[in-house]
This record gives sequence, C-alpha cells and structure tokens, in this order.
Amino acid sequence: MKIGVFDSGLGGLVITKSFINAMPEYDYFYYGDSAHLPYGDKTSGHILNYTLNAMRYMIANDCKIIIIACNTATSIALRYIQQRFIPSYAPDIKVLGVVIPTVEVAIENNSQRVGVIATSATIRSHIYRTELHKIVSTLNVEEIAAPELVPAIENNNFVIAQEFVQEYARSFTTCDSLILGCTHYPLLKKMFCDALPQVRVISQDELMSSKLKDYLLRHPEIENKLGKQGLRSFQVSSLNTHSQKVAANLFSDIPLVKA
Ligand code: DGL
Repeated sequence: MKIGVFDSGLGGLVITKSFINAMPEYDYFYYGDSAHLPYGDKTSGHILNYTLNAMRYMIANDCKIIIIACNTATSIALRYIQQRFIPSYAPDIKVLGVVIPTVEVAIENNSQRVGVIATSATIRSHIYRTELHKIVSTLNVEEIAAPELVPAIENNNFVIAQEFVQEYARSFTTCDSLILGCTHYPLLKKMFCDALPQVRVISQDELMSSKLKDYLLRHPEIENKLGKQGLRSFQVSSLNTHSQKVAANLFSDIPLVKA
C-alpha cells in the first residue's frame, strides 16, 4: 500500500518532494483536485464534499495513510473525515493533516506572538488560533487571509506576489513567528523571510517530513503495510500544459496524469 498526499492542486507536490527526499523507499500516490482549485474561496460544504470524494478515490487507489497537505481541506474537512467518515468507510486507513504538526513547531522557542497567513477559508475556520490556544492559552495570534497569493502563484506572477507579500508582512512585524498556512506559500518563503528578517518563518515543506517519519516510527502497524519499491503515481482531476510544466519543474522524471 502507499503513502497518499492530497491537495486541492499542485502546491502539495512541494511537501511530497520533501517526503520523497527524506523517505525515498516508500511508494507514493499524489492526488491534486485541480478541477476545483482554489478551495480557499469555496464554501465549507463544497470543500468537505470535494475532500471526501478525494479520500474515496485515494483509498480506492490503495493508500494506507493519507496526508492532507491542503491547509484549507485540513481546516474544514479533517475532523469530519477522522471522526465520522473513516470509522465507517475505511477504519484501517489513517488520515492526517498539516495543522497540528505546524502548531507544534510554532509553539517551540517560547513564542509569544504568532502570525498566521492562509486562505480565506482557513482563516475563517480559526483552526490555527484554536489549536494554538489549546496548547498556550495566552498566546497572541494574528490571523490574516491572503486571497490574492494563490492566484498570483498559480499564474506564475511572482512580481505581483512580491507586492502582496510586502503589504501583508506589515501585519506581522510584531510577531516572533509566522506560520505560512497554505501549500503554495513555501514558494514565497524567501520573500517573507526577506520582508520580516526578525521573524521565524514556519514553512510546512521544512517540517512535515520529520513529523511523518516520526509518526511511521511510532505506528509500525501502518508502516509495515507500506510498499517500499519506490513507486510514484501523481494524478490530478484536471490536466493542462501549465500544470504539467509546474509538476515537471519539481519532478522531471514523474509524469503528471489525469485521474
Ligand atoms: N491548497 C490550499 C491550501 O493549502 C491553497 C490553494 C487553494 O485555495 O485551493 O490552503
């Protein structure tokens, strides 16, 4: 069986790359729901339905553990999936998200004031603030939605993205840490670091692989079931030449195919 990585589009390939670099021996299945991208400006009902369909598809494709790399899907759908969907549909399958591992890193270093930048749906859910406060109730949390950043990145418009990063950075100058709470933002990490040199910028591509490795070590019942032939299958619900180019920049040797 495989390690599955799910995203609303191709942003999750960045995290997948970090998994493959750290744990190349496993078999991986990537599914990006690019037909419905972006999730960040959709209603919670739509996000939940799309994510449930993706879970069914990935389970049918032999995923034993699924990492929802999409912050928006994690924020809106993960709890329902873990508590309601999986127990009746596929109790042997494990589904994990990106929010808790990110929060665990954010509270290291005795942080006092943490910024969160993410899509509108993620911010609307207040998931980061809620989870941070469960651990440190006195923490100051500054949450900002950045609806312009995903479209700018998707259109390869990094000049516009840079202008927005400068603008958003002003909201976080008094923070000691900033969570980049979106699959696409690792691509803007340097811009955020440059704009906020005094702030610890937390990027999920740097933290998720050690969290997954640690999880697999603690769960041999899952790890034992994982194929270790280094197989890779990368699929999307909608394919065009632009997405093929983006994927090829990250993985030149693995074809992106339509599901
Ligand atoms: N994958 C989404 C996230 O991490 C960003 C793109 C979208 O809005 O679908 O929140």
